[in-house]
Amino acid sequence: MTKHIVTSQVEYDLAYKASIENPEKFWGEFAEQEFTWHKKWDKVLDYDLYTPEIKWFEGAKLNITENCIDRHLATRGEQTAIIFEANDPKEDPLHITYNELAKNVNKTANMLKANGAKKGDRICLYMPMTPELAYAVLACARIGAIHSVVFAGFSAKSLSDRIMDAKCNIVVTADGGYRGNKITPLKGIVDEALMSCDCVEKVIVLNRTNSKIAMEYGRDIWWQDEFAKASDVCPAEVMDAEDILFILYTSGSTGKPKGMVHTCGGYMVYANYSFRNVFQYQEGDIYWCTADIGWITGHSYIVYGPLCAGATTVMFEGVPSYPDMGRFWEIVEKHKVNIFYTAPTAIRSLATCDMNLVTKHDLSSLKTLGTVGEPINLEAWEWYDEHIGKKNCPIVDTWWQTETGGIMISSLAGVTKDIPTYATLPLPGIQPCLMDDNGKEITSAEAEGRLCIKHPWPSMARTIYGNHQRYAETYFSTFPGNYFTGDGARRDTEGNYRITGRVDDIVIVSGHNLGTAEIENAINEHTLVAESAVVGYPHDVKGNSIYAYVTLKDVRSESSEVSIENEIRDLVSRTLGPICKPEKIQFTTGLPKTRSGKIMRRILRKIAEGDTSNLGDISTLLNPECVEEVIQGKV
Ligand code: WT7
Repeated sequence: MTKHIVTSQVEYDLAYKASIENPEKFWGEFAEQEFTWHKKWDKVLDYDLYTPEIKWFEGAKLNITENCIDRHLATRGEQTAIIFEANDPKEDPLHITYNELAKNVNKTANMLKANGAKKGDRICLYMPMTPELAYAVLACARIGAIHSVVFAGFSAKSLSDRIMDAKCNIVVTADGGYRGNKITPLKGIVDEALMSCDCVEKVIVLNRTNSKIAMEYGRDIWWQDEFAKASDVCPAEVMDAEDILFILYTSGSTGKPKGMVHTCGGYMVYANYSFRNVFQYQEGDIYWCTADIGWITGHSYIVYGPLCAGATTVMFEGVPSYPDMGRFWEIVEKHKVNIFYTAPTAIRSLATCDMNLVTKHDLSSLKTLGTVGEPINLEAWEWYDEHIGKKNCPIVDTWWQTETGGIMISSLAGVTKDIPTYATLPLPGIQPCLMDDNGKEITSAEAEGRLCIKHPWPSMARTIYGNHQRYAETYFSTFPGNYFTGDGARRDTEGNYRITGRVDDIVIVSGHNLGTAEIENAINEHTLVAESAVVGYPHDVKGNSIYAYVTLKDVRSESSEVSIENEIRDLVSRTLGPICKPEKIQFTTGLPKTRSGKIMRRILRKIAEGDTSNLGDISTLLNPECVEEVIQGKV
């Protein structure tokens, strides 16, 4: 029988081969051996990538929290499940055991039920990175409610859009969230968001910061009061494998964010499988992923993957720069972290700091490093390898997406070779391919093209909440019969993949996936703006930064342009959140367009990158004369 959790290159090769030859057998065996099911599936996989319709483990019954919590209690009830490191290094860390996790999740589940939550309801979690966020996520799963976690850095407008899109009836939040020396007024933002939502009946508010906040009678209640009243026994709701586990929003290239839908069975199987294989987690390891649970990385690799594997997972409330830029390394030393998983943007910003902040900490507990979110450049990779890993830790460069639910292409720590700037090989069960401009698969070993996946895997998103048509168009219409990732990639003769970046209108800024159309829409709300075009350009620390070309309704003097510039930044910041703020704004009298009126972002991207050597044929444009003006006006 195939060994699923592989420990050598040979085992990887065998597992990969087995997973391609007979995917149903491969995943069926793993699912059967490794999880607690109430009932087994009738069929491992049923799919049609044209419609598209994907079903894994149909007919099976389970609850993911029994796999993440209950089944561990007999053997590791007193083992730490979550280490909580607060924003303030002086606040004592918490070591929450699996027994305590079980009680707290059950209490939270009963608290939700007492406030009207039922199976299938959508519950929005807009919370700081405290253990209560993990409890709330798992409590939703416990009772079969669908969580929609919204990152607590999003604006009121982004929050209300997401609450309304999913028609959430409950919001769980906190009075405020600590971030460095600031407090984000979470409850205030929720209040503003709810002015434009009519679906929310209850707001549960965790007191985290003792901030003075308004409580609306009948709607708002305190977490602490309700939690104290709730019983710590809550039987798990029995779910179908294809019932929705959660919705998580990601940027779209046409404005509105997309609520990606993940389902119970397949997601659980693949989160566990990928966590154990990629990080080679060993019993007793301390594992820390620095992401926020508001992103998919936090869902799969802070909460579900590690807990399902019975691991000890660190949750950090704060930011890498507080109280100083040595905080990550201080935490690694303090909790003797063995596996550390972060983003290239964090590595790049920490690499520019005083090296004392690194060297004064004992990092000898580290044995595996990971990176995720965007391509990692060679300098950052080498700094990470040398100064953090002391040239003694494998680095897993994990390529995946909100849509894929789990890591798709990555080396397996210490098992398969890591190559700087390459994500390297697909995990067993993952069948990537590269497509050329004519939509044909490139079959030569060495190749460059658009990255697709040609066979379903268990944790793929099943749909966009409330909009299956958009799901079909976004992911399955460009290369019919294949899932299109939106990324470009190169493949070497050994089959290693190097991700070259997005090929659509998504820009990744500091590891955050931003849709340029959404930013343009926000800019266009300014009364003096006629139109705008937003592109990304390379940035040393953030990876990419936002460049906005703006055409005003009438020609203004320069001084007023300065104030309009500030107003635009402010407007974007308020509408979408500070992360989306354009770093550079250039005013132009026109934007290059095709004859059909489509803005040529490809040209604008090149100009913003400072590369005007090869703009392609511009003579066919509607207004070729404006290209020179745009080049001259570059900021
Ligand atoms: C996009 C997905 C998956 C968790 C975080 C981001 C880029 C992600 C890598 C990597 C190169 C990467 C891709 C992808 N990306 N990981 N290791 N190397 N690029 O999730 O917000 O859904 O963004 O992030 O462009 O499509 P997301």
